[in-house]
Amino acid sequence: MSAPTQAAVIQPKMPYLGARLRAIYEWIESAQAIQSYQEIWDCCCDHGYLGIKILAQELCEQVYFVDQARHLIDDLQQRLKVYPADRYQAFTADAGQLQLAPDKRPLIIIAGIGGELSIDIIHQILHNHQGHSLDFLFCPTTTQFDLREYLAEKPFELQHETMVTEKGRDYEIICARWNSPQPHPQPVSKTGEHWDLNDAVHHRYLSKLIRHYQRRTLGENAREARRVLTIYQTLWQQLDTAS
Ligand SMILES: C[S@@+](CC[C@H](N)C(=O)[O-])C[C@H]1O[C@@H](n2cnc3c(N)ncnc32)[C@H](O)[C@@H]1O
Repeated sequence: MSAPTQAAVIQPKMPYLGARLRAIYEWIESAQAIQSYQEIWDCCCDHGYLGIKILAQELCEQVYFVDQARHLIDDLQQRLKVYPADRYQAFTADAGQLQLAPDKRPLIIIAGIGGELSIDIIHQILHNHQGHSLDFLFCPTTTQFDLREYLAEKPFELQHETMVTEKGRDYEIICARWNSPQPHPQPVSKTGEHWDLNDAVHHRYLSKLIRHYQRRTLGENAREARRVLTIYQTLWQQLDTAS
């Protein structure tokens, strides 16, 4: 009699994460040891690569996938079937409308969209969850200053900030807490405070931002562009003096 064959366990193919999503994932993985997030919300999830990695690695009790594009969520629902159904949910919805449980500790990821759109989404989430303590992770693709200024002018506590380069493009990652119980929480800075002009990537990124706002002073909203430009130029001078 031949030996019983072991049933083949088919492991789902893990999506490849580019440098940007990998940096976000690695921060979540290390933060999870301290923060113990129960729910992680992959908002604007697109194909859900980041959330799938979080789900597959069992980083938290529940992963929520949210995107406004129905075809993306329909496709994602099919690919998620290999995971236990009680560990995730996927919704077609505006990320601003997510419903958070008051007794769960959430991390809300808003990455891969512009800073201004991120503000619209946060604004709605805060409006619908007054009194909750909420941790956010942002990685805006454009208008980072607008997002930072919004966070800086509200009682957000900075948790972490860094940057990552993918395919020659630099991105800021900002983690911030709404309603921190700390008596003197560290605010989010309008420009970021992690810069070092001796670091070639930081040097390139800040020079690019300054050139961007210099160009914008020639177009519409020149006054606003000059205001932001002055803030970045002041930062540059301070860093230059210190280095
Ligand atoms: C470029 S993808 C970002 C994917 C992933 N988060 C990342 O960082 O690579 C942007 C996604 O945001 C979704 N999106 C844009 N605005 C949204 C909103 N208000 N609510 C939900 N999804 C939104 C789009 O449908 C799209 O799938």
